[in-house]
Amino acid sequence: MNTNENAAPILRARSLRHSFGQTDALRGIDLDVQAGEVLAVMGPSGSGKSTLLHCLAGVLVPDQGSVDYSPAGRAGTAISTLAEPRRARLRLTDFGFVFQFGQLLPELSAADNVSIPLLLSGTRRQDALRRSTEMLERLGLDGLGAKLPGELSGGQAQRVAVARAMVTSPAVLFADEPTGSLDSLASENVLTLMLELVREAGTTVVMITHDARTAAYADREVIVRDGVIAAGYRVSA
Ligand SMILES: Nc1ncnc2c1ncn2[C@@H]1O[C@H](COP(=O)(O)OP(=O)(O)O)[C@@H](O)[C@H]1O
Ligand SMILES: [Mg+2]
Repeated sequence: MNTNENAAPILRARSLRHSFGQTDALRGIDLDVQAGEVLAVMGPSGSGKSTLLHCLAGVLVPDQGSVDYSPAGRAGTAISTLAEPRRARLRLTDFGFVFQFGQLLPELSAADNVSIPLLLSGTRRQDALRRSTEMLERLGLDGLGAKLPGELSGGQAQRVAVARAMVTSPAVLFADEPTGSLDSLASENVLTLMLELVREAGTTVVMITHDARTAAYADREVIVRDGVIAAGYRVSA
């Protein structure tokens, strides 16, 4: 038994470096994310926030450095050394994703969009639809399961995206500007519901935003500038 289990961060990044051609997107990032915390990642456009999120989530393998993922009660995984099929599997089973533009499949109903990650991980169709419908209700979308994404408002579509990200009960939710395309009222609505859900489930959240009002929902903020962490502090409640 590992006696430090409770103290180990769920995600630990060390000396992350990554370049796209001549562009040094990450220039040496160290970051711990504690289980159950909601972390806001802030910083100017082009500073490396999305690249950092992609490395933490095993979407991208950094050129240098390591990302370790240590969920409670399970052996840690060096994500940054796994081959793509194993990273894809881990993303499906352990992580949820919300992007700025929901990226829902336009030909599928809201309920079918939410069902996708469940179906991909082998849940039976009937169960998947039941859980999707429940999750849509949790996000205040009762009765909208049959709608196509194009028939929903921006805020409703983002709530469907949150439902899809959370329906598998992920250990970590990664959100990249989740309300970046919404007006402030719709943003507040999406964030409130998303945070209620993650707090209740104990989900760890890594959320990129350049909006201070959005960051105020987090427990802690770090600021990325030119590919390094420029500052980090706790948000006072
Ligand atoms: N796929 C890519 N190909 C080339 N350059 C990229 C790619 N992704 C990001 N970059 C560059 O890397 C830097 C960091 O990008 P990114 O992590 O997306 O920043 P942020 O999310 O903070 O806006 C930027 O200069 C960006 O143009
Ligand atoms: Mg970005």
